Amino acid sequence: MGLISLVYVSFATHPMSEQDLRDLLEECRTNNQRLNVTGMLLYRNGFFIQALEGEEEVVERLFSDIAKDPRHQDVLRVYTAPIVERAFPNWTMGFNHIPDDHYLEMEGYSDFLENPNAAYFSEHPSRAQMLLESFRSETFF
Ligand SMILES: Cc1cc2nc3c(=O)[nH]c(=O)nc-3n(C[C@H](O)[C@H](O)[C@H](O)COP(=O)(O)O)c2cc1C
Repeated sequence: MGLISLVYVSFATHPMSEQDLRDLLEECRTNNQRLNVTGMLLYRNGFFIQALEGEEEVVERLFSDIAKDPRHQDVLRVYTAPIVERAFPNWTMGFNHIPDDHYLEMEGYSDFLENPNAAYFSEHPSRAQMLLESFRSETFF
């Protein structure tokens, strides 16, 4: 048994209001604390990208539950990798709702953030981790 990081992308089935996002985050944080899972969730224009970190078996089980959640669809695993230490040790689930004008400042991501799509990350998995880590110090709520 060891630690892994699992990153996936998905699309919301309905636009998520701020309250929907708050409710989701509360649920994530309660469960993840119990499961000793950490990570980061980004939401923008109906598009989710999430990193889950924890013991392999726990993360894989959680991911298969998350993948069945009717709030999103087209859930695509971008990568799974063994890790030595957590990238988000202080977040049972960090969250950022990427604001509309933010992408302009994010060199290298503007194409993706203007037009989110899963293929972008399948082709460049390391960018998914970099994008998530770029929000490590900026949490929305
Ligand atoms: C985009 C997205 C991300 C989610 N992330 C998590 C998560 O990190 N942890 C978690 O426990 N549930 C997460 N969920 C919720 C799960 O799909 C599911 O509702 C929850 O684990 C059920 O918990 P329960 O069986 O205790 O009711 C997420 C759902 C969505 C739509």
